[in-house]
Amino acid sequence: MKPVRAILIGAGQRGAEAYAPYALRYPDQLKFVAVAEPNEERRRKFSTVHAIPEERCYESWEGLMEQPQLADAAIIATQDWLHTQPAIAAMNKGYHVLLEKPMATTLEECKQLVEVSERTQRQLHICHVLRYTQYARKMREIVQSGVLGEIIDVDHRENVSFWHMAHSYVRGNWRSSRQSSPMILAKCCHDLDILPWVLGQWPIMLSSKGELTHFRPDKAPVNTPERCVDGCPIEKECPYSAIHIYLEMLPFWYSYRETCTNSFHKAIIGTWIKNPGVVQTFSTLFPFLKQITEYKGWPLTVLAQDPTPQKIEEAIRNGPYGRCVYHCDNDVVDHQVVSMQFEKGTTVTLTMHGHSHVEHRSTRIEGTRGRLMGVLGNGGGWLTVEEHRTRKKLYLDTSPPAGEGHGGGDNQLMREFVAHIREGGYPDTAKRAAREALFSHMLAFAAEEARIERKVIPIMPAEFIR
Ligand SMILES: NC(=O)c1ccc[n+]([C@@H]2O[C@H](COP(=O)([O-])OP(=O)(O)OC[C@H]3O[C@@H](n4cnc5c(N)ncnc54)[C@H](O)[C@@H]3O)[C@@H](O)[C@H]2O)c1
Repeated sequence: MKPVRAILIGAGQRGAEAYAPYALRYPDQLKFVAVAEPNEERRRKFSTVHAIPEERCYESWEGLMEQPQLADAAIIATQDWLHTQPAIAAMNKGYHVLLEKPMATTLEECKQLVEVSERTQRQLHICHVLRYTQYARKMREIVQSGVLGEIIDVDHRENVSFWHMAHSYVRGNWRSSRQSSPMILAKCCHDLDILPWVLGQWPIMLSSKGELTHFRPDKAPVNTPERCVDGCPIEKECPYSAIHIYLEMLPFWYSYRETCTNSFHKAIIGTWIKNPGVVQTFSTLFPFLKQITEYKGWPLTVLAQDPTPQKIEEAIRNGPYGRCVYHCDNDVVDHQVVSMQFEKGTTVTLTMHGHSHVEHRSTRIEGTRGRLMGVLGNGGGWLTVEEHRTRKKLYLDTSPPAGEGHGGGDNQLMREFVAHIREGGYPDTAKRAAREALFSHMLAFAAEEARIERKVIPIMPAEFIR
């Protein structure tokens, strides 16, 4: 069978690094035939790696959309505020679309995207990668098997680590709700997507509380300069020091180790944290260790293309990621709680906060016959199920193979996207998927409205899921 042909709009972190490598791993399934990317270095790198001829490389999505349809599918991974226009243009042109979350930054635009998908009968899939993880899939299977009985209460937490919060939501691309999205949409549209799907019921009411408590100028310790490298008096003790986060990378590896279920990997990372020289020495004999000693992945790739220690130092000295976290132009919350009532009476709390010691999501589902608890972090994940009467305890390792991003969700999403495009047409499942994605976004917008206006918002699932 011929590979699915795709174009890429936005060859950044997600487009080029998370999704496109699928085409290199499975050339019989997916082939990129054109790219639109204004950053010349990124565009060139992408066209070289994917063997795209010069005449099929465009500086912006508009140029690519002026051409006749070149492929079956368009993968759109531009920044949040640049999703709607290219996605609508692509569907009108005949492409099925894989669109990064959030679909758009307003509810009206999200609705418009679904309307265009239904009018043009083009599939619109949203990158809700959490849905594609073993973690979420096993959780859904367990809940729907009935082993937990009737589900009474759910406590689901998106524990964004202190360093990820500083990276993305204080110094980085998602720091301003006006420029990108409110944090509950940017970070938790995934969680709002999986909760009804796992529970098999819809929310009917929600309220929300939260604010930006910590990363503000009035919380700055005395005499802290604009940048960590400008002689900051507390640089050696500040958890948010850019030197600590990006040059030492210790918080990243610590989070990885804490959620890693592979004892061999855990031991290596533990040694790297305590005694980097040992791992460095062994890396000459065992080159696979260079994945740690010469790590060049996220978040470093956000600071520099093909990062080296020199490029990272330069980025910290001059770029946005070296700014003091108390002197940035951020306004998104650093903690928010969404409280929901579901149609069968289940109460659900979603807590998102940016002060977690370790990067992870956690879930606790309390049923009339048992409880489920789970953890999903950047190192791996697991679920436990305990039955009330028998006290039988089941442990499930839900970690993906090493190196697979987002709990294995990125890879599985691509696998299923390719299968949907091969199937072609506009099946009811595709229509339903786009509407469920729209519903999760509506919940995030409602949560933000409830937080700001301090009100309880009734939810009407039937308006969205038809
Ligand atoms: N699914 C997930 O779990 C997940 C995780 C992180 C980010 N995201 C989302 O992915 C999207 C991309 O994030 P990212 O971190 O890859 O950002 P990025 O900035 O690294 O990539 C976006 C790319 O789009 C390019 N671009 C800008 N204008 C363009 C134009 N006119 N035409 C074509 N390309 C253009 C930029 O130059 C950049 O290379 C965002 O919406 C983000 O919220 C999703």
